[in-house]
Amino acid sequence: MKKFINKANKAEPLTKQRGPLTVANFNKSFREYFTEVISLANNVKGDFVEFGFGGTAASSSSRLITDLMKSNYITKRKCWFYDSFEGLPSANKEDLGIEWTSKDAKDKIIKELLHGGMFKPTPATLELIDQLKKDPELNVEFVKGWYQTTAKQHKEKIAVLHLDGDLYESYLYPLTHVYPLVEKGGIIIFDDYDKSKWPGCTKAVNEFFKDKIKDIVTYEGGYMTRHYLIKK
Ligand SMILES: C[S@@+](CC[C@H](N)C(=O)[O-])C[C@H]1O[C@@H](n2cnc3c(N)ncnc32)[C@H](O)[C@@H]1O
Repeated sequence: MKKFINKANKAEPLTKQRGPLTVANFNKSFREYFTEVISLANNVKGDFVEFGFGGTAASSSSRLITDLMKSNYITKRKCWFYDSFEGLPSANKEDLGIEWTSKDAKDKIIKELLHGGMFKPTPATLELIDQLKKDPELNVEFVKGWYQTTAKQHKEKIAVLHLDGDLYESYLYPLTHVYPLVEKGGIIIFDDYDKSKWPGCTKAVNEFFKDKIKDIVTYEGGYMTRHYLIKK
């Protein structure tokens, strides 16, 4: 697996000047990460697609990424947000090898995962959806439903695919149906890859990209490590 240290990256600069970036509650590492990694696809045609809107806080990925677009830190694109808006589906066996700090925490989480509904929307989620829909500078589309049904409905070309669905099937369905729509040079970002709490993500990504595992890039920036792949 290739190692990529954020400072070494020479992302394609945008031609227009960058505007002020005011993102509440978002730490610098995440801002740098999304700016640098998403910038790698700045010249690729296609939309931004996220499977895993969540959006329970001002610090959600959708908030940050749309603010980066508006301030011209990354290319502005149509944004598609796919989510059940009912929280996670119930987890499968692939998702349960979870390491938590204590046995009690682990038992509680496993019970919650098997039951489904973790990360249910809050009033803040609905407020964020409303704000994004009303923003005249953005072109956003929300698609409600389980990925099993919704992923195959997507037909538009993709430049940036952000996967943040935590579970095995929540990675496998989108990858199976929309990876063919990712343009050459487009980027696929895996939020949960190689995280001990979400083993299903790593399993799904490794299975799907079994011939391309060497192309998965590790981003190491500040306290955070994330992974992505550029489509060749
Ligand atoms: C961890 S949250 C996303 C967090 C968000 N990206 C953020 O930065 O705040 C995961 C989201 O994926 C959604 N999700 C996971 N699996 C899904 C599936 N199979 N179908 C529909 N939605 C799913 C959940 O509803 C949840 O909102």
